[in-house]
Amino acid sequence: MSAFVVISSRGEQRVRSGHPWVYRADVVDVRAAAGEVVQVFGPRRRLVGSALFSDRSQIPIRMLTRGEVAADAPLLRARLERAIRFRELLGLDATAYRLVHGEADLLPSLIVDRYGEYLVVQALSQGMDRLLPSMTAMLVELLRPAGVLARNDPKVRTLEGLEQRVDVLHGAVPESVDVREGPVEYEVDLRRGQKTGLFLDQRENREAAARYARGRLLDCFSYHGGFALRLARQCPEVEAIEISAEAVARIQANAARNGVPHVQAREANVFDELRRLDKAGARYDTIVLDPPAFAKNKAAVPNALGGYKEINLRAMRLLAPGGCLVTCSCSYNVNEEIFAAVLHEASADSHTPVTILEKRMQGRDHPVLVGVPETYYLKCFILRRVE
Ligand SMILES: C[S@@+](CC[C@H](N)C(=O)[O-])C[C@H]1O[C@@H](n2cnc3c(N)ncnc32)[C@H](O)[C@@H]1O
Repeated sequence: MSAFVVISSRGEQRVRSGHPWVYRADVVDVRAAAGEVVQVFGPRRRLVGSALFSDRSQIPIRMLTRGEVAADAPLLRARLERAIRFRELLGLDATAYRLVHGEADLLPSLIVDRYGEYLVVQALSQGMDRLLPSMTAMLVELLRPAGVLARNDPKVRTLEGLEQRVDVLHGAVPESVDVREGPVEYEVDLRRGQKTGLFLDQRENREAAARYARGRLLDCFSYHGGFALRLARQCPEVEAIEISAEAVARIQANAARNGVPHVQAREANVFDELRRLDKAGARYDTIVLDPPAFAKNKAAVPNALGGYKEINLRAMRLLAPGGCLVTCSCSYNVNEEIFAAVLHEASADSHTPVTILEKRMQGRDHPVLVGVPETYYLKCFILRRVE
């Protein structure tokens, strides 16, 4: 008999309600090895579907199919093709974007990003790690990339008992790759850059911010200058703040490359810098806050909220009347409602009336699967200081 797992009725209900994950507490019996594709049965031995199995994770079951539908190579290939075709339909004005967004493309724990003629893949569960060679072969056949790099170094892999490693899986991958996002050109280090090289999920928010940005801009948590470079054409003064010296060097190189030398980057801690600028009575017409995820888990939420409030309160005070604040949170554990409440508190405590110009999320190439809140992680509010 093929590998199988029996889950509780609560687990079965969760799957029937459309969520692809079953937690450890709802696993009743396991006859499977680490990383196998398993059949999943409910408590009354009714077939629920097929799934990726992990023997280490708190999420041992990630559903691939429901009922009798086989989770075989043709099905996985069809899902890859559909994901790729969807991105083509979006007509993105960029040569770097996400091709596969895990659960939202019904390919749980698989990430595929395109950077020009190269692909970067991530397998974030035991099951997907085991399938990675065949998924890579399918991607090569479908897209003919010059190289495929596995950025299997995210920390979450350790929760699955998987090694953190970076490997070339196909062809050759150079030390740096040139890509374009709208009018901005970047040189990307696919092996060492954060995430898979760039924060591709903010592309559409940078475009949206360009509708309002003007005057003096402060781009906080700038990384390689994503917002600063995109907004530099309409902002005659641009300051970018970033804590990583390596990233600051990249912002400077990117500014020269894009012919926007007025983008001034400095290495600093945003918390200290906002406090200093506030004391000095500085004023900006446009401010961007795009911090790293302050709440990586539920326990970290109270501290994270303090951090979000602090930077938003300071930024609102630094904003000139009529100015625009682009403020983001990529913590899944701080949902839109909670983030909005923090912004409300920051506005009240700083006596700064602000209106919401736009409520946004991650770009459309990082889709949100309805019923799976974990796929909605990036919140972006564009606010205007009224007076
Ligand atoms: C979400 S990324 C920013 C992405 C960027 N806005 C973009 O569009 O590409 C967060 C960045 O904040 C930086 N960072 C983290 N803590 C910081 C701090 N306290 N002060 C300044 N930068 C910080 C990280 O190094 C990282 O580059």
